[in-house]
Amino acid sequence: PLVSMRELLDHAASNGYGIPAFNVNNLEQVQAVMAAAHETGAPVILQASAGARKYAGEPFIKHLIQAAAEAFPHIPLVMHQDHGTSPKVCQGAIDLGFGSVMMDGSLMEDGKTPASFDYNVDVTRRVVAMAHKVGVTVEGELGCLGNLETGDAGEEDGIGAAGRLDHSQMLTDPEEAAVFVQATQLDALAIAIGTSHGAYKFSRRPTGDILAIDRVKEIHQRLPNTHLVMHGSSSVPAELLAEINQYGGKIKETYGVPVEEIQEAIRHGVRKINIDTDVRLAMTAAVRKFLFENPEKFDAREWLKPAREAAKAVCRQRYIAFGCEGQG
Ligand code: G3H
Ligand code: 13P
Ligand code: NA
Ligand code: ZN
Repeated sequence: PLVSMRELLDHAASNGYGIPAFNVNNLEQVQAVMAAAHETGAPVILQASAGARKYAGEPFIKHLIQAAAEAFPHIPLVMHQDHGTSPKVCQGAIDLGFGSVMMDGSLMEDGKTPASFDYNVDVTRRVVAMAHKVGVTVEGELGCLGNLETGDAGEEDGIGAAGRLDHSQMLTDPEEAAVFVQATQLDALAIAIGTSHGAYKFSRRPTGDILAIDRVKEIHQRLPNTHLVMHGSSSVPAELLAEINQYGGKIKETYGVPVEEIQEAIRHGVRKINIDTDVRLAMTAAVRKFLFENPEKFDAREWLKPAREAAKAVCRQRYIAFGCEGQG
């Protein structure tokens, strides 16, 4: 059934695991996540970005997720809005039936310009006021996603700061986080630790200077009762890049967030882990391979099936790695 995000995250905290939140845009992605959760006994967070709502259309997003709840009545499921850019957008999502919303006040309404602390507190607090009245959970964000070496926010998917950021903007400050949580009363806090959205996160396998897992520990020490959220948490598996490129793709060498680093973060308060890119890569690799090997085929179901299987495999791996097995 559709359940409260707050309850899911509280359960994850009490039992020491993390929940991957997968971005969904279409039928096959929803089915893939649900099948993976069914097989592993995991709870589910399906999240839709503004881009997803635009791509599918609001009624389709809403009913795809409701269909998932109907098809898998035994699985606890949260419908979450990813990266709301204003209180108005969050209100719209609540009206549409989302049980959880992210108010990303780390950036201005354009989704690109870094916002002031006071602006962030103001918009987040307003969303908490309206959401909590109707039992909706709120995720806020403090700090800007971006590569600590280059200041690049990884804006290829249109969500993230434009231009270069400085080092301190890209690392959430624990003291500031404590003030932010106190002032807003949010349910979950997304933090910046050097990750960014999309495939091009790191130019080498990340070490502590460019992926600040220590910062997670410091924030968790200061805020032991706050559920932490990691964005930009795809692992960008080398074997998926190789498969895409083997079958005609052109993706440059790049590195994501290693699963072991996420496991370490889960030991220090991270409860929600956002993943979109890995599912994109898995589906693309499978479609490229299938069509390369079967150039005479043209039934969309035939190439969507391996794409859905590949997406499911990634979701299964993350559910297991993050400790979700049997927790749903
Ligand atoms: O937050 C970023 C997610 O990967 C969503 O991407 O805006 O292209 O749907 P999107
Ligand atoms: P990835 O691009 O690393 O999958 O991150 C997705 C995300 O943070 C969605 O909010
Ligand atoms: Na942000
Ligand atoms: Zn994100």
